[in-house]
Amino acid sequence: MKDDGLFAHKFGKDFVWGVAIAAQQNEGGRHALGRSDSIWDTFADKKGKIKNSQTIGETCDYLHRYKEDHSIVQNIGFNAFRFSISWSRLIPEGIGVVNKKAIEYYDKIIDDCLKKGLTPYLTLYHWDLPEILEKEGGWTSHRMLIWFSYYVKTCAEAFGDRVKHWIILNEPMGYTSLGYFLGKHAPGKRGFSNFFPAVHHTLLCQAEGGRIIRDLVPNAVIGTTFSCSKIVPYTDSIEDINAAKRVDALMNRLFLEPVLGLGYPKVPGFKLLEKLELHNLGWRHKEKMQFDFDFIGVQNYFPLTVKYNAFIPYLFASEVKPLVRKVPITSLGWEVNSQMFGAIIEQFAQYKNIKNIIVTENGASFKDTMKNGVIDDKKRIAYYHTHLKELLKLKNKGLPINGYFSWTLTDNFEWSFGYTPTFGLVHVNRVTQERTLKQSAHWFRQFLKS
Ligand code: NOJ
Repeated sequence: MKDDGLFAHKFGKDFVWGVAIAAQQNEGGRHALGRSDSIWDTFADKKGKIKNSQTIGETCDYLHRYKEDHSIVQNIGFNAFRFSISWSRLIPEGIGVVNKKAIEYYDKIIDDCLKKGLTPYLTLYHWDLPEILEKEGGWTSHRMLIWFSYYVKTCAEAFGDRVKHWIILNEPMGYTSLGYFLGKHAPGKRGFSNFFPAVHHTLLCQAEGGRIIRDLVPNAVIGTTFSCSKIVPYTDSIEDINAAKRVDALMNRLFLEPVLGLGYPKVPGFKLLEKLELHNLGWRHKEKMQFDFDFIGVQNYFPLTVKYNAFIPYLFASEVKPLVRKVPITSLGWEVNSQMFGAIIEQFAQYKNIKNIIVTENGASFKDTMKNGVIDDKKRIAYYHTHLKELLKLKNKGLPINGYFSWTLTDNFEWSFGYTPTFGLVHVNRVTQERTLKQSAHWFRQFLKS
């Protein structure tokens, strides 16, 4: 490795180094072990929802190959592994009877992680709501609080003896905006009448989930995760600066500030936030939305540059795409910019009640080519290298950053983009399921030794 000062030991000996996956994206086995459909199974069945009409299929068959995958994680040298529970496998009816076969399966996963020296970080909700609950309104229903609490309690009681690190939600902005406002993700709902209640029930469940784990799991370390992007105004005109403030409130503050006890974010003149809070009587639940998390999970992939746009209702802002600005991008067209990765983490660290930050996801999709069995993914290596260097800078400045998880282990089901974008450190042959470590996995092995 090039000696430019980036060494794993410089992050400190207690730093958590992990890699993350998610049930819907990795497990496969749609109806195996008594699993019922999730909203993603039924959404993906519909024509035109997944790019190039791809189907979910067996994803990475993690259901059967978890031991092999954990061994890869162990061999690369990570000390933590983040995965999520499939609610539809654990409680196929959404609420009620708990599926013993699923408990046994997740028991095995947890035990195998522990055996291999990988601290399990268990995500409770990574976007795969049981379809049966969606039929009752899903996140738009206030009964979500009852369903979710039951699910969290079930997980705490089943796994809390061995799992100490819990993540309540994965990127609430992701599933509420794409799934309940834009209709691009499951369950494909649209409009404010779905988005507003979905946001509020998510905020209530996020905090309530924390309280349940705190009550039931001794010595639990509890976090929740947020997608975030540094929002950059295109010019220094006041219109662009204010447009950036509105987008920032939506993308970076909406789910974070209520949990910190600050209530719904407010931006002068931003009517959408006012409507949202009014609809939900947000101030009434200020305390219920608050929970003292042990860590805040930050998930960043790219920054966004925005400008004033009179034609977008409420937001009056739109993105100035990276292609227009001629900046480096990933295969998904996302801007590559490690300084802005640092900038958004600094923004989070400014909240005085955030005590501990873990980067719970960061990574990049690039088109990979295999030559003589080797995938020399130089761009992905450079991405990790520059982003980790930036993180080290912040750590050296004294910011409370205590962990980093790469997204992701194996090339997997990337939601509405299907299998075309590849984020993995490990290539998966989609026919044979054979795993091949990319050069980025070898790079991580070297780095983690350093
Ligand atoms: C965020 C999500 O948590 C994860 O499921 C997704 O695959 C990555 N970002 C990449 O888009």
